[in-house]
Amino acid sequence: MIDIITSINKMRYVSEKKRSEGILIGLVPTMGALHEGHLSLVKRASEKTDFVVVSIFVNPTQFAPNEDFTAYPRNIGDDARKIELAGADCIFAPEKSNMYPEGYATYVAVERLTDGLCGHSRPTHFRGVTTVVTKLFNIVYPHVAVFGQKDAQQHAVIKRMVKDLDMPVEIDVGPIVREPDGLAMSSRNSYLSAEERRQTVSLYRSLCLAEELVSSGITGSEDIIRKVRAVIAEQDRAKIDYIEIVDPEEMTPVDDVRGGGLLALAVWFGDARLIDNIVLSGKDS
Ligand code: PAF
Repeated sequence: MIDIITSINKMRYVSEKKRSEGILIGLVPTMGALHEGHLSLVKRASEKTDFVVVSIFVNPTQFAPNEDFTAYPRNIGDDARKIELAGADCIFAPEKSNMYPEGYATYVAVERLTDGLCGHSRPTHFRGVTTVVTKLFNIVYPHVAVFGQKDAQQHAVIKRMVKDLDMPVEIDVGPIVREPDGLAMSSRNSYLSAEERRQTVSLYRSLCLAEELVSSGITGSEDIIRKVRAVIAEQDRAKIDYIEIVDPEEMTPVDDVRGGGLLALAVWFGDARLIDNIVLSGKDS
């Protein structure tokens, strides 16, 4: 059975020992409730490094008080089986009280890139992400950390943090893994009713439409967004949070995708707030 480490000191000890033996460490940070998307990141980490750690920690600081921290699905037994099969070497699953002991007062915040998109409706979210990811880097000492493209703003923010703070870790990004009908895999898909799940297909359909529009020569962001919005708005269960086209690194709005752009969206279906995105490459990119 795969080793599940819960102690911060033990994890540090294991990682320090591996490093001293010249072994490359890969980290896949997760909040558990693993699906094929996470497992593809584990496989990616195994190809790039010798010792793969998957962290499982539902991080309270990235949830606002009105969000789904308590409801977030947790099943460490099931996750451990999947992680072992995917070829990881150990799980780091710390307790909340050890990650954020009484008196905890320190946060890492990336500015500007976190203002828009998800940062607009979740203003404290990225501060929680960058704080916990920094802590994980300081405990696991990974050479490479792997994140998913589905969370495009998250990995842009983390890359900026790593660059700005001179963190000695390479950030690698794995592609979005989709269900056969195109819905991006997400732990939050389990919140969907059958009807909501049926309607979520509109998300991928709208992203494909955006790609087709660009191929046919329509490159103005306003036009593309209007058409994408219309596809999703046809669904009576969909509540659009945002649909935007931005620079994939800076997260600033892009008016025309001739030089490329990231179309990112967040849409509520019932209790599930789903995010998805597509990289649009225009003529000049
Ligand atoms: O993407 C996630 O699951 C989380 O935001 C992360 C990176 C594990 C930090 O809690």
